Amino acid sequence: MKKTLSILLGAMAIAFNGHTNTQTDKTPAPWLKKATDVISYQLKQASNTYKPGQNPRSTNPDGSVRLANYKDWTTGFFPGSLWYGYELTRDKELANQAKRFTLALDSVRYIKNTHDVGFMLYCSYGNAYRITGDKAYLPALADGAQNLYNRFNPKVGAIRSWDFTWWHFPVIIDNMMNLEYLYWASGQFKKPVYADAANTHALTTIKNHFRKDYSSYHVIDYDAKTGSVIAKRTHQGVTDESAWARGQAWALYGYAMCYENAKNETFLAQAENIAKFIMNHPTMPKDKVPVWDFDVHNALGVEEKAPRDASAAAVIASALLKLSTQVKDGQKYFNYAEDILKSLSSDAYLAKPGENNFFILKHSVGAFLYNSEIDTPLDYADYYYLEALKQYTAIKKH
Ligand code: GLY
Repeated sequence: MKKTLSILLGAMAIAFNGHTNTQTDKTPAPWLKKATDVISYQLKQASNTYKPGQNPRSTNPDGSVRLANYKDWTTGFFPGSLWYGYELTRDKELANQAKRFTLALDSVRYIKNTHDVGFMLYCSYGNAYRITGDKAYLPALADGAQNLYNRFNPKVGAIRSWDFTWWHFPVIIDNMMNLEYLYWASGQFKKPVYADAANTHALTTIKNHFRKDYSSYHVIDYDAKTGSVIAKRTHQGVTDESAWARGQAWALYGYAMCYENAKNETFLAQAENIAKFIMNHPTMPKDKVPVWDFDVHNALGVEEKAPRDASAAAVIASALLKLSTQVKDGQKYFNYAEDILKSLSSDAYLAKPGENNFFILKHSVGAFLYNSEIDTPLDYADYYYLEALKQYTAIKKH
């Protein structure tokens, strides 16, 4: 009787989560065990090699490590990876290192000239507070959220991404990611206007950033006074009309995350449509790690040779795992994410211990047309890979 009841409860839990995945075995699959060993080794070596406040970002063309100081948009990812590494392994050494590398970023709380404070603070201090509950992390998070919110323009209905002088009021699709910080800060610091701004930004972005096929432009330049669209451009894609791979990944993640926070069905529908665009794209390679721009073959005619972007794949995997828990037929998203994670955990992408400047993944692209970070490791590829593995493990356990 007891057994029948537990089978029944198990089946109900599976139905509730929208999954048909029935694996209950707690032993990690060999690929996951190997990946976790590599992660643990690389993170420990990196945190003993690099100095807090000078975080590993990528690899220079001469093979040396490229470091990020507190002003660099990627600076929060290494401390964030250490926090996720701790959650994956429960190894206290990683938590201690995570704290050291997080606290070195205190000055980020004063940065006002970019939307990237979301990435910089929420991935470092945000994870630190979520995991430890230590209130010492809150003042920096409060200042950063207010600075991010101050960039919201009600006329445009969006947060300004950059202050570069050649744009009027640029909003990049990447900005969707920073809304998570505002949603969290809205509840934490009792500031409903933060969540209102996040919702408005997400709705404005649906209106102006997407094409009919649900691919996204990279940059929309607005008139700050009237809120009208001045131009639709790219910054890191191959052309203005192309689908830059990481941009599509940011979009997918952004709307799944907005739905998680706001429960607005419009956001869920947007996430599903973006997922369809990505998953059905004819140029998606068999291993499901996209080339750096989905349209690069058409634009440059570089069939086969275009470098892959493991960072886009990692963000897509993490986003699809989130989406898999939000819909009834989430198994297709889970399976796709699992395929990506298996690819990234294979020798083709996963570093060998001690190599790759102690980064975990190889083969990402920062900004191809600027000749910057082509086919290198990237700190944010590692961060979203770890986040995805953490989610994957949690869903599998259900
Ligand atoms: N947010 C900048 C990038 O994705 O490269």
